[in-house]
Amino acid sequence: MDDLDRFITGIPKAELHLHIEGSLEPELMFELARRNKVAIPFASVEDVRAAYQFSNLQDFLDIYYAGAQVLQTKQDFHDLAAAYFARARADGVRHAEIFFDPQTHTDRGIPFDVVIEGLLSGMAAVEGVSSKLILSFLRHLNEEAAFATWRQAEKWLDRIAGVGLDSSELGHPPSKFARVFAAAGEAGLKRVAHAGEEGPPAYVHEALDILHIDRIDHGNRALEDPALVERLAQSGMTLTVCPLSNLKLCVVGDLADHPIDRMLDLGLNATVNSDDPAYFGGYVAENYRAVAHARNLGKAQIVQLARNSFTGSFLSEAEIATHLATIEEFARQN
Ligand code: HPA
Ligand code: ZN
Repeated sequence: MDDLDRFITGIPKAELHLHIEGSLEPELMFELARRNKVAIPFASVEDVRAAYQFSNLQDFLDIYYAGAQVLQTKQDFHDLAAAYFARARADGVRHAEIFFDPQTHTDRGIPFDVVIEGLLSGMAAVEGVSSKLILSFLRHLNEEAAFATWRQAEKWLDRIAGVGLDSSELGHPPSKFARVFAAAGEAGLKRVAHAGEEGPPAYVHEALDILHIDRIDHGNRALEDPALVERLAQSGMTLTVCPLSNLKLCVVGDLADHPIDRMLDLGLNATVNSDDPAYFGGYVAENYRAVAHARNLGKAQIVQLARNSFTGSFLSEAEIATHLATIEEFARQN
C-alpha cells in the first residue's frame, strides 16, 4: 500500500449508497444456496465472478435479483449484513446508511419482518460502525406495489430512516412514485432516489420537485444541465457517487474520465460509495483508491469527500460535528 492508499483506508468515512443485497459475495451465495437447498445457475465461485460482466444497469439487475434468491431466513439476512459491516469497518467506515429492497424478498414469499429483523440484527453485530436503514422501492414495479410494501413497513418506522428508489431507471421516472414518497415524507422519513445514473437530467428535476428528496443517488447525468448543477450546488444537495459501479455499468467508459473531481470543482457535495461491492469489484476504500489513482486526487480531495460523506448523512448535527473532528485529527496526523 502506498501512502495515499493508507490515508484512504484510515480516514474516517461514511457510506451512503450501499445496497445490502449487492454485498452478497459469491462465497456466501454458495453457502446459503447449500444451507437453503436453493439451486443457482453457477457451478463454482469462479463461475459466478466470471458472469459479472455488464454492459448496462439492466444486465446487472438481472443477475443481482437472481443472486438474492438464496436469501431466505432471518439468519441469512443477519449473515449478509454482518459480513458487510465487518468489511466496512476494515475500510474506515464509521457510519453506513444502507438500502434494502423488501420487494425482492416479499415477492418470493419471504415475510417483510424476516428481512428487517435479520438485517437489524446483523447491523448490530459489528461494533464501531453506526448504521441506518433506507427502504428502497423497486421502480420497475408499480406504485400500488410500493404502497403495499409501505404498509408492511409501517410498524417498523422507528427503525427506518428513509425511503429510496432503485432498480431499472429508464422508463420509470420519479414522478411514478409521487404519492408513496409523499406518505413517507408525512411520516417524517428522509427521502432519496436514484436519478441520473442512466436516466436524463429531467429525472433529477423530478426527484427534487416531485419527490422532495434529501439526497440524490448517483446524479451523474445532472452534469449535462448547467442550471441543474447550479441548483444542486446552491442547495448543498449531496450526491452519492459510485465510481466502480459507474465503470462496471458503463456509465463511464474509463475511470480516467470519471467526473468525481469535476463535481467537487463545481461545488457539488459529491461522496464516494460502493453501490453493490460484491458485483462491482470493491468496497468503499477500493472505490476511493481506484478513482483517486485514475483522477490523480490528492489528500485534500480525499478529506473533502470524507467530510461530505458525514455532512450528507442523516446523522444529527452533533454526531456530524464529532465525526468531522475525527477527520481533522486524522488529517493532521497523516
Ligand atoms: N441502480 C439502480 N438500482 C440498483 C442499483 C443501481 O446502481 N444497485 C442495486 N439496485
Ligand atoms: Zn445504487
